[in-house]
Amino acid sequence: MKAVVITGFGAEPRLTDLPVPQPGPGEVLVRLHAAALNPFDWKVADGALRNAVEHDFPLVMGSDGAGVVEGIGAGVTRFRPGDTVYGQFMSVQRGRGSYAEYVLAPEDDKIARTPDSLPFPVAAALPTASMTAYQAIETARLDTGHVILVNGASGGVGQSAVQFAALQGARVLATATPDIAGHLRDLGAHETIDFHAAPTAQQVLAAHPDGIDAVLDLITPHGGDTDSLVDLLKPGGILVSTNGAADPDALAAREVRGVNLSNNPSRAELEALADLAAAGKLRIRIDAEVPLTAAPAAVARARTGHSRGKTVILP
Ligand SMILES: NC(=O)c1ccc[n+]([C@@H]2O[C@H](COP(=O)([O-])OP(=O)(O)OC[C@H]3O[C@@H](n4cnc5c(N)ncnc54)[C@H](OP(=O)(O)O)[C@@H]3O)[C@@H](O)[C@H]2O)c1
Repeated sequence: MKAVVITGFGAEPRLTDLPVPQPGPGEVLVRLHAAALNPFDWKVADGALRNAVEHDFPLVMGSDGAGVVEGIGAGVTRFRPGDTVYGQFMSVQRGRGSYAEYVLAPEDDKIARTPDSLPFPVAAALPTASMTAYQAIETARLDTGHVILVNGASGGVGQSAVQFAALQGARVLATATPDIAGHLRDLGAHETIDFHAAPTAQQVLAAHPDGIDAVLDLITPHGGDTDSLVDLLKPGGILVSTNGAADPDALAAREVRGVNLSNNPSRAELEALADLAAAGKLRIRIDAEVPLTAAPAAVARARTGHSRGKTVILP
């Protein structure tokens, strides 16, 4: 099978041929029809998990994917050949990932069946970006009328977060350059903030001098300075970071909550998310669809930023 692999940390991704894996006990073999690119993919390739877990090289890149069950191992009860499924397939310990024609997954792990009406590229786009958005907005516990800033709204996580926050009845402030501001308003943002025009916090404070209720920060890196964003929060407010930038103890001293979110979907959440997307209640903007041969170039492009949605790889 064709797959895009790295042969060591920091190595360039390259297309190669690997044997089609055979499902062992409790495993399903999935013929992938789409994989989606996330910043996590190249962070892992750079060694983000090197101190946490063993890696098996050559390591197939990618986490998210969608396809059809082609084979099952002994003891598998939840899936049958022909089922359409999606989820997270990355297992660095076993060298497995989703930038490939086939992948194995444990049946009780992070995969779920999808409704037949859900296109593969849309399903593949959901498990990391939209699920993180879903879990972040759940964590924020928004009420009708609450005001939330989505910092980094123009990317994959941000676009879904805008929609989930708006569904909760919140007033949504979304960072966006002018090229995508209209799209974000269409998704439910009430105000857009061009972060190149002036610092985001300064613009939010000017429009909301009494403060806001929540910040979803997709931008500040681990160890970065969130002070200007924390200053926006009313007492009892919350900062949710997807990059480990929140310092919960320091924030508690300032009477606000800080949460570092780590995407960790349950099967029930995956099923619910797929249903929302299939029903048109969650809209996914696909920036680019590229063949597997073009995945290394797509990864290089993603590293430079400027995402306006999801890049989907079609194995
Ligand atoms: N903890 C977890 O489980 C988890 C899960 C998913 C994602 N994440 C992390 O969350 C972050 C967002 O992920 P993603 O998939 O949404 O990334 P993405 O698709 O690459 O989007 C990032 C967006 O942020 C915008 N941006 C860059 N600098 C900005 C700034 N200073 N202010 C406002 N917006 C800015 C970018 O636009 P321009 O480049 O045009 O500025 C881009 O549209 C990544 O760091 C990712 O690793 C963590």
